[in-house]
Amino acid sequence: METKALRGHKFPMSIPAPAAEKFAEQRRKNCFLSCGIPLRFFESEFSGYIVQDACSEYAKARGKVLEVCRAYAGRFPEHAALGRSMIFTGAPGTGKTMLACIIAKSVIERGMSAKYATVYRLVGEVKDTYGRSSETERDVFARYIAPDLLVLDEVGMQYGTDTERLALWEVMNGRYESMKPTILVSNLTAEEMSGYVGDRVIDRMRENGGAVLAFTWESFRSRGGNGNA
Ligand SMILES: Nc1ncnc2c1ncn2[C@@H]1O[C@H](COP(=O)(O)OP(=O)(O)O)[C@@H](O)[C@H]1O
Ligand SMILES: [Mg+2]
Repeated sequence: METKALRGHKFPMSIPAPAAEKFAEQRRKNCFLSCGIPLRFFESEFSGYIVQDACSEYAKARGKVLEVCRAYAGRFPEHAALGRSMIFTGAPGTGKTMLACIIAKSVIERGMSAKYATVYRLVGEVKDTYGRSSETERDVFARYIAPDLLVLDEVGMQYGTDTERLALWEVMNGRYESMKPTILVSNLTAEEMSGYVGDRVIDRMRENGGAVLAFTWESFRSRGGNGNA
């Protein structure tokens, strides 16, 4: 019966455009979701990053940071081939996570792989393996080492426990050895980050011209920003 019905069925030559667009959009969102991109930044674009606002004294520095991020995303395959990483430092609300996520999305959209996670998440995943036989710490580290780009956010917000330091070292060293770029995002200064993740990690990230971008301006949130924070 079923075969007969299928035989008689005529598939349309093409899916109606609105349905196809909706499907493509859903696929794109699912992809961002599975890569850990926060929903808040699904629609964020470089073009929406405000350089000049009511208080323009920081516009130049913000413009420079935007330019570096845009160039990094635009030529990501070249940077990836060199394992060129970046560090974003600065006060909360200055747009670090936003720009890191826009870069990660652009990497995904060009067909390469990216992952976004906070250190809290990484450490949580490592701890979840304790007492389990189905997954080991190594499996977790491998998941963080595999993507073409890893954005590791909120570095230095935790307690600096041995588990955390070990996880950071394993992931960062694994990525370094595979020549895979990482964007580390933190409210700490570059010097404070060295103390936290270790000089060796920071030195390696600076190799091959890796940039440290200082987000030196005031919080976008305190300016009344776009109100969706
Ligand atoms: N220059 C900017 N232009 C537009 N929105 C911004 C800008 N900077 C920050 N925001 C917005 O402010 C909020 C906080 O930004 P976020 O990236 O989370 O800051 P951080 O990670 O530095 O704490 C987000 O909603 C973000 O979209
Ligand atoms: Mg942030």
